Amino acid sequence: MAESVFIDNTLSKKEKYNALLPQLKSLIETEDDLIANLANVAAVLKSSFGFFWVGFYLLKDHELVLGPFQGPIACTRIQIGRGVCGKAFQQADTIIVSDVNLFEDHIACSTETKSEIVIPIIIKGKTVGVLDVDSDLLNDFDQQDQEGLKAIINLISSKF
Ligand code: SME
Repeated sequence: MAESVFIDNTLSKKEKYNALLPQLKSLIETEDDLIANLANVAAVLKSSFGFFWVGFYLLKDHELVLGPFQGPIACTRIQIGRGVCGKAFQQADTIIVSDVNLFEDHIACSTETKSEIVIPIIIKGKTVGVLDVDSDLLNDFDQQDQEGLKAIINLISSKF
């Protein structure tokens, strides 16, 4: 297992995602435990990009339950179909919210969150959870984040 991940802060966002991918691959390749890998991925994303909150919600008994995360404390359970996380899970598709106040069913775990992106985690055709990344800036996520984060999630799901 790699013992450190290095990201040059002068890189552009796209370059950072590209530089992270091989490092994350070597970070998770010798570990088969999903929770352990999600925990390290949350830590790497938070420290590399300075996002306000990075974390995972995982399906347990028909609802989403808080998994490994980095950032302030967060809501522990989300119903399928509710909030950005529950909707992205239900649709098995990424949702980008540029202004959480304009998303009708947004669940505000923190009033500091202004925009967010949620990516479903699909393992062997089954949606098992989501990655939720929150920013304290409006309109902080775009196609580059969607592609970069999806590539990271694919790295994790391809281990199973
Ligand atoms: N905002 C999310 C809830 C999770 S927290 O932001 C960490 C949502 O609407 O699903």
